[in-house]
Amino acid sequence: MESPDHLPVLLEEALDALCLRADGVYVDGTFGRGGHSRALLQRLGAKGRLLALDKDRDAVVSAEALALSGDARFSLVHSSFARLAEQAEGLGRVDGILLDLGVSSPQLDTAERGFSFMRDGPLDMRMNVDAGLSAAQWLAQVAEKELVEVLRVYGEERFARRIAAAVVLQRAGQPITSTGQLAKLIEQAVPSREPGKHPATRSFQAIRIFLNDELGELQQGLQQSLAVLKPGGRLVVIAFHSLEDRIVKRFMRDQERGHDVHAPQWVTAAPTLRRIGKAVRPGEAEVARNPRARSAVMRVAERLVSG
Ligand SMILES: C[S@@+](CC[C@H](N)C(=O)[O-])C[C@H]1O[C@@H](n2cnc3c(N)ncnc32)[C@H](O)[C@@H]1O
Repeated sequence: MESPDHLPVLLEEALDALCLRADGVYVDGTFGRGGHSRALLQRLGAKGRLLALDKDRDAVVSAEALALSGDARFSLVHSSFARLAEQAEGLGRVDGILLDLGVSSPQLDTAERGFSFMRDGPLDMRMNVDAGLSAAQWLAQVAEKELVEVLRVYGEERFARRIAAAVVLQRAGQPITSTGQLAKLIEQAVPSREPGKHPATRSFQAIRIFLNDELGELQQGLQQSLAVLKPGGRLVVIAFHSLEDRIVKRFMRDQERGHDVHAPQWVTAAPTLRRIGKAVRPGEAEVARNPRARSAVMRVAERLVSG
């Protein structure tokens, strides 16, 4: 059964890529609403195990409603996958790790979470609301130059300077506290439109990625997967924009080649991963059913014995 508020992306493809064994041990680093986790549990036998993580408390709470918390094969921890190695310590080496990156549909669709320029709500954008600054707090104090940088680097926004200047001007008169307020301000600051794209899309993406340290945590999670996977174990990552996909692609390529490390001196390390197949994208039927799948790219690698 699929949760009505989140359709898992590339579900069959991801499960196939994990090469599930009925008695295997798996980690779902991004539980969300458990779409992938539930399908995975359905294919595991009585001896299989699944550890799920999510840095969003709402995701963890949703497992109760999904009646997953009664399943003895399953455990769910409120944690970032940037702490994958620590969280998976008690499991021994695992057979597969799945990371389905980014935000979930409930995060986007709940106005109070402040992720969406389509829904007016408090300007928050934190996946973990127990830590760090909300977008409103950050925008109230960020230096204009830093804001330009964040919009450019994480949003690839051409009009970063104009938007940052508009933010600084606006906040001098009145704090920016709602998503609607920020979306309108950006709409007015941006001189031209990309077809089919709201002018605030790039800025919202940039602020969200920066505040949640999405790229830094991805790097950490990928690196730690090497210590957590057993030889032959699979790493399956679904990315939703080019910045995160680039990181995944480079990581898998570098680990396959044997990369240079700097400790204690420059050496070429043994390869740790073997890439499996090419990047996988959803087909037309999936995109028609679930438009949020359209930008998904899945990459798969297998842990080697060496390295
Ligand atoms: C695309 S959704 C996952 C959906 C899930 N696969 C499903 O089918 O229901 C991404 C989820 O990952 C979580 N997330 C994002 N970055 C994370 C991180 N660094 N550590 C743990 N969870 C993270 C988000 O809070 C969100 O719930």
